[in-house]
Amino acid sequence: MKPKRRRQLELGFSSQGSLQRPGAARERRSPERFDLGYARLRQLYELGKLLGASEAPAPPEVLRCLGRTVPLRVAMLVDIRAGAAHAVAARAHGVPEDELELAAGHARRCLSRLAGVTELAAGRLRIEPEPLPLAARLGAPGRCPFAALPLLLDRRTVCGALYVRGARALGEADLAFLCAAADQISLALDRHAAWQREVRLRERAEALDRAQKDLVAVVSHDLRNPLGAVLLGISTLRRWPDMEPSKVRDHLEAIHRAAERASKLVHDLLDVAKLDAGHLQLELAPVDLGALVSEAAELMRPLLAERSLACETSIDEAVPPVLADRERVLQVLSNLIGNARKFARPDSVVSLSVWQEEGEARCCVADEGPGIAPHDLPRIFDRYFQGPHGPAAHGFGLGLSIARGIVEAHGGRIWVTSEPGRGSRFFFALPLA
Ligand SMILES: Nc1ncnc2c1ncn2[C@@H]1O[C@H](COP(=O)(O)OP(=O)(O)OP(=O)(O)O)[C@@H](O)[C@H]1O
Ligand SMILES: [Mg+2]
Repeated sequence: MKPKRRRQLELGFSSQGSLQRPGAARERRSPERFDLGYARLRQLYELGKLLGASEAPAPPEVLRCLGRTVPLRVAMLVDIRAGAAHAVAARAHGVPEDELELAAGHARRCLSRLAGVTELAAGRLRIEPEPLPLAARLGAPGRCPFAALPLLLDRRTVCGALYVRGARALGEADLAFLCAAADQISLALDRHAAWQREVRLRERAEALDRAQKDLVAVVSHDLRNPLGAVLLGISTLRRWPDMEPSKVRDHLEAIHRAAERASKLVHDLLDVAKLDAGHLQLELAPVDLGALVSEAAELMRPLLAERSLACETSIDEAVPPVLADRERVLQVLSNLIGNARKFARPDSVVSLSVWQEEGEARCCVADEGPGIAPHDLPRIFDRYFQGPHGPAAHGFGLGLSIARGIVEAHGGRIWVTSEPGRGSRFFFALPLA
């Protein structure tokens, strides 16, 4: 048989690239070739079903499915995540572990070439317990022919590779089959990515819906009380115009406090809405965090003194500036110090400190209050969360969630440590400018 003709048969096409008359095919094709082509078509069909039915974008069964018609020593699905190549591998019976690891290293290098990146770190290698179906024939380790086929997202972006090592040299028909399989896996990856996008959108829509319901509940519940107090105070003053001046002052004080409370809630709700929509505008500039914390301490000292609380500061002046929005960081400090004021035991000390650690500027607001129960710690920064002392303190459960939103919008972190009965320590860290 002429070499050209043999290649055409291996690829399973007629000389014109079209389907042949059944009789002609019988004349020219060997029955084994025909059977192999038919088996591979079936295999592709099975593969499609497997990929369609599985929740994972490319389940490991795919590897065994490929090994049914191509004799493989090793088959691997490698994907890129966070700059590393993670692989799921299957091997034929008798293939030693070191050959598999060699193959994993080779697959990673192939994938970095396909993806056009200089180097990919070695990620996790998961080895499937079930062997590939065809026995490993021939071929000493390290001398096997191999194929590395890109897996594409949106037909463009290389996100992984299908890597195989044959138990014999891979022919063009094998490669055509493996290419078709890689295309099917790429399509499954596309489908999975689209599905994940849809789930994210639905979750976001549900979260917005929940937030809207919460907002209505808060406005109707928490805003009604202070506004009611304002209206009551004003109508009392109007009804008794000759009231004693000291009583008038008391009523005006009460109206002022209630109006302040309503105004704080409206401001907090607006901040929450901005954080939700990702519209919090930050006016970033280099800020001396130590100086800002001293300023916050001076601002809050009179309010702390009202509850007989002392304020101590410990500030490392060598901390380099952070890139931050001054007013927003002041808001975080005022929320944290405000909480310490509300919850700390009277006659105790509220301590503020600033220092540098691991390339960040860090700040701690510590109090000697009742502390936070361990089961409340994971929820403490959640919106509307109030612990057992919260409702008594007339808050809305928004301060810490806003503080977290602001710190995270700066690329920073906020966290808390506490032991019940021994006070709380709220920390936040901001990246240096
Ligand atoms: N320093 C603290 N000590 C003990 N518990 C605290 C402290 N800070 C916060 N908490 C608990 O965390 C809850 C949530 O705090 P957050 O600041 O978000 O809300 P709030 O202070 O209750 O109301 P808001 O800040 O909206 O006026 C509080 O209700 C309280 O139970
Ligand atoms: Mg608060």
